[in-house]
Amino acid sequence: MDKAHIARYKPYYCELEEGKAYFWCSCGRSSKQPFCDGSHKGSNFLPIKYIAKDADEEVLFCGCKQTGDQPFCDGTHNNLLDTYALEELDNESAKLTNMITRNATNPIATLNNKCYVSNPADHELSTTGSLAWCVLISEQMGAQYQSQYYLQQAVGTSPIVSFGDSEIAMLVRAGKGEIVISGQAFQLSKHAGIYVKAGEAFCLITTSDKPLEIYATICPEGNGLRTLSAMPDNFDLTAVNRVVSIDEANAQSMGDRFFQILVGKEVGSKVLTEFIGDIPQSKAAMHRHLYEETLVILEGEGVMWTEDWKTKVVSGDIMFLPRKQIHSLECTSEKGMRLAGVIYPGDNPSINY
Ligand code: FES
Repeated sequence: MDKAHIARYKPYYCELEEGKAYFWCSCGRSSKQPFCDGSHKGSNFLPIKYIAKDADEEVLFCGCKQTGDQPFCDGTHNNLLDTYALEELDNESAKLTNMITRNATNPIATLNNKCYVSNPADHELSTTGSLAWCVLISEQMGAQYQSQYYLQQAVGTSPIVSFGDSEIAMLVRAGKGEIVISGQAFQLSKHAGIYVKAGEAFCLITTSDKPLEIYATICPEGNGLRTLSAMPDNFDLTAVNRVVSIDEANAQSMGDRFFQILVGKEVGSKVLTEFIGDIPQSKAAMHRHLYEETLVILEGEGVMWTEDWKTKVVSGDIMFLPRKQIHSLECTSEKGMRLAGVIYPGDNPSINY
């Protein structure tokens, strides 16, 4: 046996006891997955010992045994089959799922367990100088770690905006212009990611006749949006790359899907991970994540599913997913769907269970 056996094509969710040692099966032959039962004897494989660090620690132990991050899942299982794990649309549970229709009187579709879908076009915008904005995701609406704002700068230069000591990951939905972060200017393009470090402030400058439209995810939520009378001179020169555009060379495959990290460790964020991705016309199998996730549909249409509810999603919609909420995002557009998301805690959007 020189290659590990694939026990299954997804990880094992386990709740661990602090200080206890666990022996993860690396050969894939154990009948007590994900743990060793001695079946590796006589092979080149040995179990991997892991001692739980925290009380109530939750982990995803690799089930495919091909991970690069033993003993944990690193998403490798997504690339072992030709396509991402998909689901038949005519199965019995899918037929029982109720459709929620959004309209002017019901602008937010609340699915199971505080998972919800809404669109900034259905929210009343507040104005601060020339900046129009609204809150799309907040603690009040069920988020634990992140909040999300929609920002719209129609013309000229916005007021100087601060979110205090929170980290910010933004995504340009539309428009052309610049962002000035604590005195440093960066050009913006459609679907670029932007990173603003804790304590810094920024202003938006629109340079075309279409408004700059931006989704800003704030972590932690903090005290919300406030404006400053002067731009602070505290740009963190240890992290100079603040605007990241789509670059096929940096795309990572996930079955027949692709994603690229825009804001993450590479640009200096220890807190937030923002990604952009393309998915083909398909419905992913129902799955969950250990991280909280906010998603924005940038192109294409589809349906967001949870256990009992589903709702149609279109370009501009945002989706909030609490940790461990079972869900599936179906893409119904022939040309596929482009979406962006922010996850916390975690740095790998391809890990699911
Ligand atoms: S189960 Fe092995 S990498 Fe995910």
